[in-house]
Amino acid sequence: MSVKILCNNLSDTEKLAENLANIIKNEGAFICLYGSVGAGKTAFSKFICKYLNVKEKVTSPSFVILNEYKSGIIPVYHFDLYRLENEGISTIISELEEYSEGKILTLVEWAEFSQNSLPFDRIELTITYIDDTKREFEFTACGEKSSKIIRELNNVNIGI
Ligand SMILES: Nc1ncnc2c1ncn2[C@@H]1O[C@H](COP(=O)(O)OP(=O)(O)O)[C@@H](O)[C@H]1O
Ligand SMILES: [Mg+2]
Repeated sequence: MSVKILCNNLSDTEKLAENLANIIKNEGAFICLYGSVGAGKTAFSKFICKYLNVKEKVTSPSFVILNEYKSGIIPVYHFDLYRLENEGISTIISELEEYSEGKILTLVEWAEFSQNSLPFDRIELTITYIDDTKREFEFTACGEKSSKIIRELNNVNIGI
C-alpha cells in the first residue's frame, strides 16, 4: 500500500516526522529514503530522531556511511550509501537485513540501488522536491509490519 502526503513547508515535514516517530517508537521500523540531493532525506531523518528523544547531534552520514544514536527511546541506525562503490553495495545488502529486525529504527538514505532487491519488511519513502519549501512524501509499505505503520500514519495525518 502507498500513501502520499504533501508538506507545504518545513514545519509540515516536522509534524509528519513527529507523527511517524510516535507510531514507530515501540516497535521500530526500517525506512529506505529516496530523492534527489536536497529533497529532504536528512532533514526528515533529523526530525524523526528529535521526536525519538535522541540527545546526540544528528548529522548527515554521507561521509561516514553509518551514524548510530543510542540515547533515544529506541536505537537509531542512520545510513547514507551514496559514497559506496559497487563492491561495498553487494556486501551491505546482507548486513542491512540484520538492521531490519528488532525494536530499532534504521534509516537508509540513497537506497536506490536496493529497490526491489531487499527481501525484508520495510517502508520505501520517496521525497519529491516541488519548490523551495514544498515536498511530496510518498510512503510505500513492503510487508505487514510496515503496512500497519503506514495505515496508522495515514489516519493521524489527515489535517496536515
Ligand atoms: N518541506 C520541507 N521538507 C524538508 N526539507 C525542506 C523543506 N523545505 C525546505 N527544506 C530544506 O531542504 C533541504 C533538504 O536538505 P537535506 O535534508 O540535506 O536533503 P537530502 O538529505 O535529501 O540531500 C534542507 O536545507 C531543508 O531545510
Ligand atoms: Mg542527506
